[in-house]
Amino acid sequence: RTVYVNGTYLPEEEAKVSVFDRGFLFADGVYEVTSVLDGKLIDFHGHAQRLQRSLGELGMTSPVTMDELLDIHRELVTRNDLSEGMIYLQITRGAPADRDFVFPGPDTPPTLVLFTQAKGLIDSPAAEKGISVISIDDIRWGRRDIKTVQLLYPSMGKMMAKEAGADDAWMVAEGFVTEGTSNNAYIVKDGKIVTRHLGNEILHGITRAAVLKFASEAQMEVEERPFTIEEAKQADEAFVTSASTFVTAVVAIDGVSLGDGTPGPVARRLRDIYIEASR
Ligand code: PDD
Repeated sequence: RTVYVNGTYLPEEEAKVSVFDRGFLFADGVYEVTSVLDGKLIDFHGHAQRLQRSLGELGMTSPVTMDELLDIHRELVTRNDLSEGMIYLQITRGAPADRDFVFPGPDTPPTLVLFTQAKGLIDSPAAEKGISVISIDDIRWGRRDIKTVQLLYPSMGKMMAKEAGADDAWMVAEGFVTEGTSNNAYIVKDGKIVTRHLGNEILHGITRAAVLKFASEAQMEVEERPFTIEEAKQADEAFVTSASTFVTAVVAIDGVSLGDGTPGPVARRLRDIYIEASR
């Protein structure tokens, strides 16, 4: 596989990043995951815009322009002959000479890394059968709107789900669902789609924005507000969205089946619309 590191394309075995890199030492970096379907990028501009916002919030700047970034994405798709999967991009605050909590000065350039990952996005057991989730406390920091590489707790959340025999976890803060470990969360009741409003408590999903737009174009009713796990357990259906899962139905929450325990009509319809529009 060919990867990209700071201006160079090279075989993954030869790619190197300093042990002093602040991404490695402090989780001081941001990332994006952009899906590739039929060799085409989905929503690159949405991801590029969110990347710039994440960087701005942390006082960082991209070492390349967004046009150059698009070229790098395309080049990696070509070099790796990627038809379906994703591209991972990470920018960290670089590698100063020593470990120091204080941010380095402008003489320390950021580290830019990209790689591809082939993965079947259309056909998967999760897409077909839906997933089960458990609820866990959301103990992450207060700026979840910034897409940082600080993913230890979401990673622990997935492990808690796995140990409980479930597929994923929905996080709950102050009584309300924030989001999934790596996706946005939705419930459907009497045909109405409910998902948490945007704010610092959740990541502003690029897939979320697209799906909400498609939903309103299809005359589906959408309410952006917080909801509890109790409300979710009584919903007709539920689903999650992310670049890597598109729209995926949630068929059980904390062991309680929703509807007949199979992907519901709203989730299935939105998934179809999303895939159709992305091709
Ligand atoms: N995760 N919420 C969280 C906490 C996420 O990590 C993600 C994405 C989303 C959905 O955002 P988008 O629709 O822009 O992918 C919501 C990526 C896919 C990941 O970490 O792999």
